[in-house]
Amino acid sequence: MARVVYVNGSYRRHGEAHVHVEDRGFQFADAVYEVIEVLGRQLVDAPRHLDRLQRSLGELRIREPMSRPAMLHIIGEIVRRNRVTDGLVYMQVSRGAAPRDFLFTGKHMTPTFVCLARPVPPGIRQAKAQRGLRIVSLPDIRWGRCDIKTVMLLPAVLAKEQALAAGADEAWLVDADGFVTEGASSNAWIVNAGGQLQTRALSPALLPGVTRHTTLDVAAAIGLEVVLQPFTAKDAYLSREAFATSASGTVMPIVELDGKAIGSGKPGPIAEALRKAFHNHAQHQDCR
Ligand code: PDD
Repeated sequence: MARVVYVNGSYRRHGEAHVHVEDRGFQFADAVYEVIEVLGRQLVDAPRHLDRLQRSLGELRIREPMSRPAMLHIIGEIVRRNRVTDGLVYMQVSRGAAPRDFLFTGKHMTPTFVCLARPVPPGIRQAKAQRGLRIVSLPDIRWGRCDIKTVMLLPAVLAKEQALAAGADEAWLVDADGFVTEGASSNAWIVNAGGQLQTRALSPALLPGVTRHTTLDVAAAIGLEVVLQPFTAKDAYLSREAFATSASGTVMPIVELDGKAIGSGKPGPIAEALRKAFHNHAQHQDCR
């Protein structure tokens, strides 16, 4: 089956979908994106993802490409036309195309909107969760507005390559004060020595993860105590459990950090409980 992509007003075959060579997303990374989980043909937590997209656009003064119902309609079409039952939707909005110039004020550009979807067999994620992730800690070399979900992802690309070279699955990024900000593409959590869930409070240093938000709802619902405080890699080595959250993995137990086993060295019971309960608390909606 040919893959279908939405780009700027039309549905195209994957190999024939293009954006302009002077698109500002291409030249300046002047673009934002979202990744939404698809489970059983339904979108997971779409309102929170679309709220965040709207916020990212607002922070960068990029025009919203269309109304929310129109966007949801396109997402639904892309999921349907690609016959995705379980997988991911990727959407990106750039400021648009214009002759290369740093400045954008006063220029009339039409935002570029791209939407793709691909299947991810649930078994692959489940196998990864059962094995648990290995993590390496690396310096956080990103900019000061990591709360905006921009496509400016080179630090994450390089961190993930370094993680791969070290035999790990993900990197935890560490700020100048020695505290973990978040993962290269996930939020970072521990179950501390006191048994509390611990994750960093929101700030411009990290992405306000949708999965993080829903995991906080799950924690409240099952009566887990949460502290929103930063932790160091050393705190994580001494923690009972650690895990990562993201739309592409939901709750992923971590079994090793910098070559040291965390807790028992196996996926921890709290991470597993959160993972199991996650979709009972997330919002699910049909693709319309
Ligand atoms: N990554 N932190 C960073 C830096 C991320 O890139 C992501 C998401 C998260 C988790 O956010 P959420 O729970 O909303 O997915 C945290 C996506 C999945 C990606 O880039 O593929």
